[in-house]
Amino acid sequence: MPTFVTSEPAATGELGAVLAPLLRPGDVLLLSGDLGAGKTRLTQGLAEGLGVKGPVTSPTFNMLLVHEGRIPLYHFDLYRLERAEQLEDLDYFAILEGDGVAVVEWGDRFPEAVPSDGLDIALRIAGDTERVIEVRSLGVRGRELARAWAGAAAGRGMDVEGA
Ligand SMILES: Nc1ncnc2c1ncn2[C@@H]1O[C@H](COP(=O)(O)OP(=O)(O)O)[C@@H](O)[C@H]1O
Ligand SMILES: [Mg+2]
Repeated sequence: MPTFVTSEPAATGELGAVLAPLLRPGDVLLLSGDLGAGKTRLTQGLAEGLGVKGPVTSPTFNMLLVHEGRIPLYHFDLYRLERAEQLEDLDYFAILEGDGVAVVEWGDRFPEAVPSDGLDIALRIAGDTERVIEVRSLGVRGRELARAWAGAAAGRGMDVEGA
């Protein structure tokens, strides 16, 4: 499974932009990693690649922000979620199977939030501006996406290991 290494914020954004054209409705990306690891930066690049026009910020207080692009982008941040039951209040499960792409920051906080299909992306701070981004695939669609993403990133000359 691929691991990406980025050495500046723009490169993490570019990784997201490279993934965007590969996505289709119902795809789910879980993002985990410490504050400042680059979860939102990756999402911003993804949004750009999906043709989202407005600014994309961490939905920490809202827990969900929706952006209009080629297909809708549902950007969750579960940092402040207290109990898994609250996922229902956010319409979480319906949205994951809905008409757009779901990105879930802090998606690893609740086992209930982990989908059976998609990508589980762990971002790690490895230095001031270095980030190690490990991709784990979930299900058949996850494997397909991970492979396609690694191929597309390698094609752009990005740092990819274990593709
Ligand atoms: N290689 C890198 N990739 C992503 N962000 C980086 C990188 N190097 C430094 N940064 C900085 O780290 C911070 C990441 O913030 P953010 O994307 O909001 O993280 P998170 O959503 O994981 O809390 C930004 O201030 C960004 O400029
Ligand atoms: Mg964030």
